[in-house]
Amino acid sequence: MINESAKIVKHEKLAEGVFSTSFECCISETALPGQFVMVGTKSDARLLRRPISICETDREKGTIRLVYRVAGYGTAELSKAGTGDEFKLLGPLGNGFSLEKAQDKKDILLIGGGIGAPPLLSLAQALRRTGIGKDSITAVLGYRSMNAGLFLNEEFGKEVRVLLSTDDGSVGVRGTVMDAVRERELKPDIIYSCGPLVMLKAVKEFAEENFIPAYISLEERMACGVGACLGCMVRTKNKDAHSHVNNARVCTEGPVFDASEVEF
Ligand SMILES: Cc1cc2nc3c(=O)[nH]c(=O)nc-3n(C[C@H](O)[C@H](O)[C@H](O)COP(=O)(O)OP(=O)(O)OC[C@H]3O[C@@H](n4cnc5c(N)ncnc54)[C@H](O)[C@@H]3O)c2cc1C
Ligand code: FES
Repeated sequence: MINESAKIVKHEKLAEGVFSTSFECCISETALPGQFVMVGTKSDARLLRRPISICETDREKGTIRLVYRVAGYGTAELSKAGTGDEFKLLGPLGNGFSLEKAQDKKDILLIGGGIGAPPLLSLAQALRRTGIGKDSITAVLGYRSMNAGLFLNEEFGKEVRVLLSTDDGSVGVRGTVMDAVRERELKPDIIYSCGPLVMLKAVKEFAEENFIPAYISLEERMACGVGACLGCMVRTKNKDAHSHVNNARVCTEGPVFDASEVEF
């Protein structure tokens, strides 16, 4: 884990309220798909850093890319930054998505809801790079509407087959990502997913009904990001080996969990 001051090398707006910021940093040397960084703010009044998933890593250039929606002070501050500005980054953090779980699987399904899509892009790239899944990887990406703006869908399209859903049907299937999965009668051998809690619950139900292994990335509120404050607990089916309670820390045991292990 590295704590560093990282310089912004690229910054752009992707859609209304959604931004992409790339940093030159040493974290790029070891970052894995599904891991995240804690981003510092410049305000002395706000000590807590904000967790943001690593959307892409370029080891050769030594950069990581974050894609985020402006939610409050921290993300707004980052969205207004420019090339050359420096931010404190701590990472890479968390377990990330296991590529090994997909090693012997034929059909791989990535399900990304809104701003949950970014960590799945680095997973799609890693799967393609390692040859896992060959040509049968599908990403189902859900958005609010064409008007609110799509983002990352074209970049996913360079790696894998993409299906879209929007709440108002302005592009792709009308409804949720799970409506798209059901309408297209997708029956994958493994699912990786990230998005809002309500969507992850639906992914878990679908996976359990169809006996499909599923790995979901949770986005709990976080204070420390390194396992110390216990502020990001999630209820799990199995007891923790150390504390003997049915809890796990999203920042350290997660953010990616076997969906069957998580109790919503
Ligand atoms: C492991 C992890 C990875 C994440 N990856 C991304 C990402 O790639 N892109 C992205 O846009 N966001 C991501 N998030 C959510 C992001 O951390 C929050 O949106 C951010 O912390 C808000 O900070 P802020 O200072 O802008 O807003 P604040 O002023 O702190 O909060 C504004 C609003 O956002 C809500 N909020 C704060 N933290 C979270 C959270 N962790 N999850 C959901 N809602 C929250 C608050 O309840 C409040 O309503 C991730 C969260 C986690 C835990
Ligand atoms: S955020 Fe502190 S333990 Fe997870």
